[in-house]
Amino acid sequence: MNEVKLPAYAKINLTLDVLGKREDGFHDLSMVMQSVTLADTVTITRGEGSELTLSTDLGFLPGTDKNIAAVAARVFAKHSGVSLEGVHIDLAKKIPVCAGTAGGSSDGAAVLRGLNQLFETGFSLEELAKMGEEVGSDVPYCVLGCTALAEGRGEVLTKLPSLPDCTILLCKPGFPISTPELFRKIDDTKLHLRPDTAGMLQALEEGNLAGICHRMFNVFEAALPQPRREEVEEIKSTMLDGGALGACMSGTGPTVFGIFESREQARQVYDSLAAVYPETYLTENV
Ligand code: C5P
Repeated sequence: MNEVKLPAYAKINLTLDVLGKREDGFHDLSMVMQSVTLADTVTITRGEGSELTLSTDLGFLPGTDKNIAAVAARVFAKHSGVSLEGVHIDLAKKIPVCAGTAGGSSDGAAVLRGLNQLFETGFSLEELAKMGEEVGSDVPYCVLGCTALAEGRGEVLTKLPSLPDCTILLCKPGFPISTPELFRKIDDTKLHLRPDTAGMLQALEEGNLAGICHRMFNVFEAALPQPRREEVEEIKSTMLDGGALGACMSGTGPTVFGIFESREQARQVYDSLAAVYPETYLTENV
């Protein structure tokens, strides 16, 4: 085998709670995560050459030195002993960048899974997820994907019953967000409301889509500076007014998502949001 091609799915947070700051500088989290069909395509080839190389269709992304996909490849090489000479990674990007939807982490996870296939190294998904901890906090979840509870730094994973089939609308507002900055901000933010994670797990167990949607909650929305928070609220309102069962920000944002039972209603809201926000996507759960 000389080539593998894998989808790297985006994720949304059905819930996101920050439980506290740890001594290592990271935060203890509790998050219910869900993969969606919006995906980058990661192609890994083995050929001639003396080193690892990387290409992408987005010129402003970091290159082979710092790109999370290349970091993941080097972590894989360290654990497996394989040589990365002549290995080329190509990223065809669809997931918005710096958006709270795990675009980079998902590429990194796909590289771990892809190299495992290409070199026939036989690591289990759990072993690859463990390697992912060295790449980034969301990478272990992205290795497993689908619906899962992520705790600790993000690496303590429990598989959950799948989200019932639905249409998920994603909309990324134009402003940038710095994840480390928002984590710093949340340390100084008094959180009056927290997600009902136990209730979310129960609703997933029951396959109760309305119950899931009513419990979607992300503490980072409270840490957004104005007028950013207002813009997120406006997008949520547009989705809810258009028939979404629930709407919430994903990760540290700024992407907002809405969950719809009706594809037709989601399509109508897509049309109105896409006219204002070019990075709007109609997706489904994986
Ligand atoms: O692990 P990752 O590189 O994705 O984390 C990016 C930044 O997010 C970290 O440098 C840290 O500031 C913050 N973070 C955190 N606690 C976590 C995950 C991320 O404080 N559990």
